[in-house]
Amino acid sequence: MKNSTINHLLTRRSVLAKNLIEPGPNKEELEIILNAAIRVPDHGRIEPWRIQILNKRSQSSLGKVIGGVFKKNNPEASEKRIQIEIDKPSLSPLLLIVTSYPDNNRFDKIPELEQKLSSAAVCQNILIASHALNYGAQWLTGWAAYSKEVKQILGHEDFIDIIGFIHIGKSEKTPNERKRPVFDAIISKWDDNQK
Ligand SMILES: Cc1cc2nc3c(=O)[nH]c(=O)nc-3n(C[C@H](O)[C@H](O)[C@H](O)COP(=O)(O)O)c2cc1C
Repeated sequence: MKNSTINHLLTRRSVLAKNLIEPGPNKEELEIILNAAIRVPDHGRIEPWRIQILNKRSQSSLGKVIGGVFKKNNPEASEKRIQIEIDKPSLSPLLLIVTSYPDNNRFDKIPELEQKLSSAAVCQNILIASHALNYGAQWLTGWAAYSKEVKQILGHEDFIDIIGFIHIGKSEKTPNERKRPVFDAIISKWDDNQK
């Protein structure tokens, strides 16, 4: 297939954040990724999403906060286990955090769900754009995405959702293919004449 967009869509695979290595996207590449990110379907042009860019220093600062919250919530946890949490935000060269900023004044016409789904599209566009620029990426959440302390340190109020921690970097090898859904289990034709 010559169409590169289709090829990217059909071959994209997440690369585990721990396997993402330097270099991360340069300034121009990051700008492309971010422009692709915010060019998503957005009912009512609400722009109900925000993206934060964390370089290595910020990733490390976030890790310290996450480690502290994890320790507080898991007093029995070993130092090794806490260190895993501290290291998580720093796994890759670049971390983008996508949050949903729904406008509740518009919920009558554009329900909250639709506004959140648009943020998920932001995450997916980041993955696709990264892949198209020959970077690997992984969309993660985990407990930290739902922690009010973590949200607070990132400058978000409780009701704001972290939709994704997206890690981006180079991948040394192409990841193995993952088992994919059985087409017929997912896709069917609906035809009201069939009754
Ligand atoms: C909203 C969301 C949150 C996710 N959070 C995690 C996570 O915390 N940990 C994880 O291992 N995978 C998580 N994943 C799955 C990976 O991002 C990825 O989809 C999975 O490894 C499959 O790889 P693929 O994209 O090549 O199919 C999440 C996916 C989505 C859509």
